[in-house]
Amino acid sequence: MKLEGKVAMVTGTSPNIMGGIAEGLAAEGADLVCIDINPKYAEQCAKSVTDAGRRAISIACDVTDQAQVTAAVAQAKEAFGCVDILVNGATLFNTKGILDMPLDEWRRQTDVLLTGAFLFTKFIAKEMIEHGRHGNMINIISTAGHQGEPGNIGYGTAKGGLLNFTRAVAMDLAEHCIRVNSITPTATDREEGLERAKRWGVDWPGPRMGQRMRGWPANPGEGLPMQKMPSPSHYGKAAAFLASDEAEMITGFDLRVDGGAIAKYWIWDPGSDS
Ligand SMILES: NC(=O)c1ccc[n+]([C@@H]2O[C@H](COP(=O)([O-])OP(=O)(O)OC[C@H]3O[C@@H](n4cnc5c(N)ncnc54)[C@H](O)[C@@H]3O)[C@@H](O)[C@H]2O)c1
Repeated sequence: MKLEGKVAMVTGTSPNIMGGIAEGLAAEGADLVCIDINPKYAEQCAKSVTDAGRRAISIACDVTDQAQVTAAVAQAKEAFGCVDILVNGATLFNTKGILDMPLDEWRRQTDVLLTGAFLFTKFIAKEMIEHGRHGNMINIISTAGHQGEPGNIGYGTAKGGLLNFTRAVAMDLAEHCIRVNSITPTATDREEGLERAKRWGVDWPGPRMGQRMRGWPANPGEGLPMQKMPSPSHYGKAAAFLASDEAEMITGFDLRVDGGAIAKYWIWDPGSDS
């Protein structure tokens, strides 16, 4: 197993992508600290990890609140000593464009996506340095952080910021042998999230909290060169690789797990060729 003896902290552990990543890291031997503003999501994610035979704790925490973040870091330290892997995934979907987005909603959305990652990165990095731990961090981006998407101004802007936050932090922490990378998911197949929600016994309103994007085809997988959407477990495998010693010289890198979405030439419609 790639992550035996490691402790991973994951934020935003809904039964969808971050739940899949948490389970993917646990499948490679990691113990887990599951963090979410929704206590049920944190608890059930931790339970699924302990059911799989690893150790796990859950922490209800608003990632934008410094006092809650430092308390969560202290709680993780008390339970496990030091965290080896941090995965920043907490997110708030709010599909509004520049003409409609109210200032307070813009601030809240960019706060969750950027300040949340900033706070956990800062305080976990300090712990890793204090303990001489050569850990690593992974930020969860989106293809919407690489491309302009109408009606998603806060999300696309914050995800683009998170992409370069990753590179900037990688430079800050390189001298401490702490690696910092990102994973870019894209529109994600909902079946696994729905199955996980059922297994965990929680309500989950669907991908992007059920928000359908203007101009999207009924089956977004048809727009992808690989003709199908990724599932959370695909991201979990990518996260386990980046977090492991197999990636020991990789830092400041974005690993796209997007079925070819970003690489695609814009005018080619893969669905029309089949
Ligand atoms: N679902 C997609 O199609 C998709 C595509 C590309 C990238 N992503 C990214 O993948 C990651 C996971 O997405 P998902 O679809 O599983 O999202 P989700 O909405 O199912 O889960 C997000 C979680 O973040 C939590 N959260 C929100 N605000 C918080 C706060 N202030 N503090 C702590 N937790 C908070 C929510 O309670 C929720 O559990 C996100 O970073 C998202 O941007 C998702």
